[in-house]
Amino acid sequence: MTASPSLFRPYTKLVKIQILGKDFEVPENNTLLRCFQFLQPESVAYGRFCWNEDCQYCRVSFDMGEGSQPRAALACKLMGQDGMRVKEISSEIKYCLRGLNL
Ligand code: FES
Repeated sequence: MTASPSLFRPYTKLVKIQILGKDFEVPENNTLLRCFQFLQPESVAYGRFCWNEDCQYCRVSFDMGEGSQPRAALACKLMGQDGMRVKEISSEIKYCLRGLNL
């Protein structure tokens, strides 16, 4: 199953991100949680996410490349950006992305 295009904010290209050391391409201009949904549409849709900065089930830590400071964030708030390296993901995200074999 593919995600409905209307779920995503308009985008014209994909950007490269890393999740736990694996490379993926996701739509620019979208939150990281939407980017995860782009990769695993059905399981993320059924995840226990509020999409509203409330439940905290979408916690990640990330950096922007070698030498950059790791930061903690909520994937439903943080925009996915080219070069982003997601280093840690919550157990809920991990469960929803299990199909990616991270
Ligand atoms: S999905 Fe609930 S805080 Fe991000």
